[in-house]
Amino acid sequence: MVSALKDKNILLGITGSIAAYKAAEIIRLLRKRGAQVYPIMTRAATYFVHPITFQTLASRRVVLELFRQEDKIKHISLAELADALLIAPASANIIAKLANGIADDILSTVALATKAPVLIAPAMNHQMYVNPILQQNIDKLKRVGVKFIGPEKGQLASGKVGIGRMSEPSRIVECLESLIQCRDEFKGKCFLVTAGPTRERIDEVRFISNYSSGKMGYALAEEGICRGARIILVSGPTSLVPPAEAEFYRVESAEEMRKKVMEEFARVDGVLMAAAVSDFRPERKREGKIKKSVGERFTLELRQNPDILSELGKRKEGKILVGFCAETENLEEEAKRKLREKNLDLIVANDITLEGAGFGVDTNIVVLIDRYGNLTHLSKRSKREVARAVWDKIKEITKNLYR
Ligand SMILES: Cc1cc2nc3c(=O)[nH]c(=O)nc-3n(C[C@H](O)[C@H](O)[C@H](O)COP(=O)(O)O)c2cc1C
Repeated sequence: MVSALKDKNILLGITGSIAAYKAAEIIRLLRKRGAQVYPIMTRAATYFVHPITFQTLASRRVVLELFRQEDKIKHISLAELADALLIAPASANIIAKLANGIADDILSTVALATKAPVLIAPAMNHQMYVNPILQQNIDKLKRVGVKFIGPEKGQLASGKVGIGRMSEPSRIVECLESLIQCRDEFKGKCFLVTAGPTRERIDEVRFISNYSSGKMGYALAEEGICRGARIILVSGPTSLVPPAEAEFYRVESAEEMRKKVMEEFARVDGVLMAAAVSDFRPERKREGKIKKSVGERFTLELRQNPDILSELGKRKEGKILVGFCAETENLEEEAKRKLREKNLDLIVANDITLEGAGFGVDTNIVVLIDRYGNLTHLSKRSKREVARAVWDKIKEITKNLYR
């Protein structure tokens, strides 16, 4: 597959953060996809990594200064040649400068002068990130169309755990790829994505669940955001950090998920049900903890949960409905049956017996089946790439609706 980044001119702004070393991997990934990379470092960034590292990886001199005798007007020529400006890592300082139109070094001046899309990957200490002034600056930039990826929750340079860690280079590059390819394709549209497993309470300490990691749903949410859609993400319990731009709701049980999805249905243009909703829940609600003393054998009676997608399919109301099914046999027949019975527009079917597909892993092998009977087989690829194919398909389906 040819990347949307092939032959594109990407300006990579690197600022004074401990995560500056990760920019090396970003350059490597961008070049692997065929992009031309123009590194621009702030003075603070040069305290963290020597420019020679980025110069070698990009095969191009790193831009460090605004005022140089030999160059004509560097900031304007860079701003004009850019297909995108990526700032990764982005310090609290550069975000503040961009939000206020300050142009006092080469990076901030190029950012102000370019018409290319801008993607920012913040990296900083937790307290800096949650500071209301920084949050206001981020909101201000978002309002004028600047895109953000991350930061994520995890261990920070200080050793503490919190939000502020820069997103992984691969996620950043994937987001940039989507931004270049399909900028604002779904602008003004709102989609609801469900993700993760549900937990069905047995007693106060136990539950029934499944192995879903939520990765597929979160990848769909991220891809939708990169394409300009407003995303409502309703997620069961996962260890993933929701995309900062999503309207996020965390739920526990299938019943809670159903309630939230139904509440939001009226205001969305479509629903992508990637969550692995438990088919059954314990019949009885029990207080406290079931004791071992109940006997050597213990029977748990289960009741079927409502099928959220079937319910949506009955309402439909002209909205796009996308279902997912994980099967161990008769994949295509089962998927087609569900597509028909639930009145869906698209179903993403995966055979979870295949290596590299299904729960927990970062890749998937799927077949997309639309309501007109078209089949698209996708060989093993990252969940983000699968998400890209799903959104491409949604675009195809909605082409006539949104014209
Ligand atoms: C060891 C060290 C680590 C730092 N890490 C970060 C960071 O991750 N994020 C951040 O916003 N600032 C960080 N700073 C502070 C910035 O480097 C400082 O605000 C600087 O002025 C940023 O300049 P720039 O935005 O021009 O690169 C760090 C400073 C030091 C000394």
